Amino acid sequence: MPTLITGGTGFIGAELARVLVSRGEGDVTLFDITDSTHRLEDIAAKVEVIRGDVGNFSHVLDAVQNSSANVVYHLGAMLSLPSDHDPSAAFHTNVIGTFNVMEAARLLDVGKVIFSSSIATYASGITEETIDDLTPQRPQFFYGACKLFGEHTGLFYKRKYGIDYRGIRYPVIVGPGVRSPGAAQYSSWVIEESAKGKPFSVWVEPEQRASLVYFKDAARATVALADAPADSIEMANYLISGTSPTAADLVDVVRRKVPGAEIDFVVNEEIQAILNDVLRPIDDRFARHEWGWEPTYDLEQMVDDFLRELHDNPQRYP
Ligand SMILES: NC(=O)c1ccc[n+]([C@@H]2O[C@H](COP(=O)([O-])OP(=O)(O)OC[C@H]3O[C@@H](n4cnc5c(N)ncnc54)[C@H](O)[C@@H]3O)[C@@H](O)[C@H]2O)c1
Repeated sequence: MPTLITGGTGFIGAELARVLVSRGEGDVTLFDITDSTHRLEDIAAKVEVIRGDVGNFSHVLDAVQNSSANVVYHLGAMLSLPSDHDPSAAFHTNVIGTFNVMEAARLLDVGKVIFSSSIATYASGITEETIDDLTPQRPQFFYGACKLFGEHTGLFYKRKYGIDYRGIRYPVIVGPGVRSPGAAQYSSWVIEESAKGKPFSVWVEPEQRASLVYFKDAARATVALADAPADSIEMANYLISGTSPTAADLVDVVRRKVPGAEIDFVVNEEIQAILNDVLRPIDDRFARHEWGWEPTYDLEQMVDDFLRELHDNPQRYP
């Protein structure tokens, strides 16, 4: 089935492309503002890469038309910290960009759009200890506000135009080759920098707990959501959760698996304040019940596979 992935050369998008190619999908087009293909070297001959800006309607329309996509995975976005530092640019990319994708899907009869949302759509005013898909979403940060716009725009296009919209709210996604800055990227960078023999300062408190999903599980989950039969989809936007270690737990595993790793904690109060609001235990029962989500990597397996990836495929993670 012809498929378009916006943000397709990025961290999660490239792995998503790999999942689709590995199961034999022939028409996979990646649309991204950068056309760097280092993450894709093993599948470069099997995908097409189109360079363009999701904030530019002509670019999006052309990409959807030229790919003949029946399914669009919309991952192209600015991440949390850059969005909050430059709301105008984030509005262009994350708000106008998502509108453009939905509008192109409507005009060109794309059947299905899968949107990458975030736990950053939750923040203030939550009284429960655990968040789920029924918890009110009141983002405090611009990135989360943009993602919430995307979720509700998707629901609007589903209701009014019949597009099969589905959204996945990623928690912290961990893996090698994370390059875009984000508030919780310490969880990937502490592993990668240690493996490369570099010292690393974790910028949150040691007891900070975060739900971590390995990037291979995130890509697999996104495809599973797209594959689920329409009559099993009721919630439409879904949290997923993985392993939930503290930063100290993560550092302990890295120190054990990378002897000599130089890691300390230097708390960044501004980012810690953001994460205090956003990182909460997640109840992902709707994703588990409606389309069978289940993580396959626990903390140990995640760090093991991360180190193996860096060792086996260094060209993907320069
Ligand atoms: N990584 C995480 O922990 C995490 C958590 C929650 C949500 N998400 C969401 O998942 C999606 C993928 O994130 P990622 O972690 O792979 O980050 P990433 O930065 O590696 O990927 C995003 C991609 O979007 C592209 N992009 C940015 N602006 C664009 C534009 N104007 N037009 C076209 N492409 C553009 C970037 O070049 C990049 O390749 C994003 O929507 C992000 O908000 C990620």
